[in-house]
Amino acid sequence: MLTQQRNRILYEGFALEPLTEQQFPLTFDCGDSDLNDFFRNDVRDHERQLFTKTYCLYGYDAEMAGKSPIVGLISYSNDSVRIKDFRDHEEEIPEKKRYPNIPAVKIARLAVQQDFQHLGIGSLLLNLTKVFFVTNNRTGCRLLTLDAYNDSRVLSFYMRSGFQFIHDKDRHKRNRIMFYDLNRTPV
Ligand SMILES: CC(C)(COP(=O)(O)OP(=O)(O)OC[C@H]1O[C@@H](n2cnc3c(N)ncnc32)[C@H](O)[C@@H]1OP(=O)(O)O)[C@@H](O)C(=O)NCCC(=O)NCCS
Repeated sequence: MLTQQRNRILYEGFALEPLTEQQFPLTFDCGDSDLNDFFRNDVRDHERQLFTKTYCLYGYDAEMAGKSPIVGLISYSNDSVRIKDFRDHEEEIPEKKRYPNIPAVKIARLAVQQDFQHLGIGSLLLNLTKVFFVTNNRTGCRLLTLDAYNDSRVLSFYMRSGFQFIHDKDRHKRNRIMFYDLNRTPV
């Protein structure tokens, strides 16, 4: 069962909640040096500058709340997608004349601790994110977006969670822009 307490989501023995100052220094290692560097060295600065907000996922037991190691990290930023960049999908957005930009939240960074990969933790982070941004919202938010590494394993990981390519123009680039329509997530 999924429950929400203020900024924390509890689900099946896991908690997702904002990373706090007390959790540093982070020993997090996802096997990707750019992402490790961001989470170990840059995350607080980006947060102070209000560019990202980062949440951590850890095994949750009421008696030892917050003490188990972090298994996943996810950072969010506000985003928007111009309707004209969304031509392949615009029929899904009925109010397009009134909303030339579709409000979105971007998954700016996502990583799972190396020894916990391939266990469904990354998919769980995506599913919790979908619930997070359709409940108790302070603003309208229709899409989740992300810039995925253009690597077949990473792309298929996101596609299995219902993410689609916004367009085909970036198919040979290092990263591909993907989106998930939150209207598909039942409230
Ligand atoms: C990509 C990642 C977030 C997936 O998390 P996860 O908990 O392993 O994901 P799940 O168990 O839900 O799904 C596993 C699938 O993710 C993909 N995947 C898993 N590990 C991966 C890795 N190291 N590199 C690329 N793709 C990976 C594969 O498609 C995998 O399917 P498989 O188990 O059949 O091979 C995680 O592997 C990771 O942090 N990788 C390093 C950082 C990264 O590439 N982040 C994404 C940036 S766009």
